[in-house]
Amino acid sequence: MHAPTAYQYTKPVATSLDAPLALRDSFGRVARDLRMSLTDRCNLRCTYCMPAEGLEWLPGEDILSDSEVKRLIDIGVGLLGIREIRFTGGEPLLRQSLAELLAHAHALRTDEDKPPRLSLTTNALGLDKKAGALVEAGLERVNISLDSLDPQTYARISGRDRLGDVLRGIDAAIAAGLHPIKVNAVAMRGVNEQGLCDLLRFCLNKGLQLRIIEHMPLGPQHTWSRAQILSAEDVLHILGTEFELNKVVNEDDPHAPARIWIIREGANNQAGTVGIIASVSKPFCANCDRTRITADGQMRSCLFARVESDLRGPLRAGASDQEIAEIWAGGMAAKKAGHGIDDPGFVQPTRFMSEIGG
Ligand code: 5AD
Ligand code: SF4
Repeated sequence: MHAPTAYQYTKPVATSLDAPLALRDSFGRVARDLRMSLTDRCNLRCTYCMPAEGLEWLPGEDILSDSEVKRLIDIGVGLLGIREIRFTGGEPLLRQSLAELLAHAHALRTDEDKPPRLSLTTNALGLDKKAGALVEAGLERVNISLDSLDPQTYARISGRDRLGDVLRGIDAAIAAGLHPIKVNAVAMRGVNEQGLCDLLRFCLNKGLQLRIIEHMPLGPQHTWSRAQILSAEDVLHILGTEFELNKVVNEDDPHAPARIWIIREGANNQAGTVGIIASVSKPFCANCDRTRITADGQMRSCLFARVESDLRGPLRAGASDQEIAEIWAGGMAAKKAGHGIDDPGFVQPTRFMSEIGG
């Protein structure tokens, strides 16, 4: 067990939250999608996510225990209207108890009387050995990080020569019946832009949904510059050299971060879709429905939040479920309108992506 911390819980003053409690902010957005980070560790070092030399990992006692993770999930689903849980990291497959945590979440019922939808953001290393058990535990969907199919480019971006493991992981995810399987690729000028068409062809052939994401300032400072951004517009142009991209299918879906294009390759064969996420050039913050908890139990209302709400302290100091729900809801109520990357005073969050969770 964890040593008791010095934290003293004091009940917050009455909030003006609607009953029943929901994760509603002052702009009227309601968060129903929980991104739960299970570890800050990772076996890769993607340049856009953490420094090449790694980070000092959180000490074990700072990380939420399995029972603490389960309790926060119970509160999110039971009291706060969470309907979807994405386990993330660092790399969530590194958490030994992942299947147990999934099974726990799968047994819950949302306010719609259904199990929460369960997904995973993973680099797929080791997924070949685990996919079956994770599906059995209730996992439905995965987002797999893969920025290039060229082994050297892959190693240059991720810091490790592990492309073969990722491809094995993808095949295992398909065999285990995970659906949809999304492939996340961060678009980087001069790094993987030449390989984006190959990546799309690979995904179309395997029935995977490629999502190409604009590079956001969430890694080491020197790795991102506004001038260097390969924008959604640029990506469309690159894909357009080899594919016929037809109209966006989800123009009307306000919650979809990706604009989904129908692809026709060559003659009139519909070959699938590709999503392009303009997180920087056309932010979708106005429709964001996410709430995040870091592996050390800090609630963040946004990837780019400058403040966090400590849930672990109250949890360990004996706060009730209702009290924790109120702190969580209070933190979300203060969610800012947007990430502000374009504001003159923009300051990158103090934590890297690997410490927040994708
Ligand atoms: N910009 C955009 N996407 C990122 N991701 C990680 N860091 C960044 C960044 N700086 C995405 C990757 C990965 C997931 C964990 O988050 O696509 O798949
Ligand atoms: Fe690890 Fe994912 Fe970050 Fe890559 S993007 S270093 S896989 S946490």
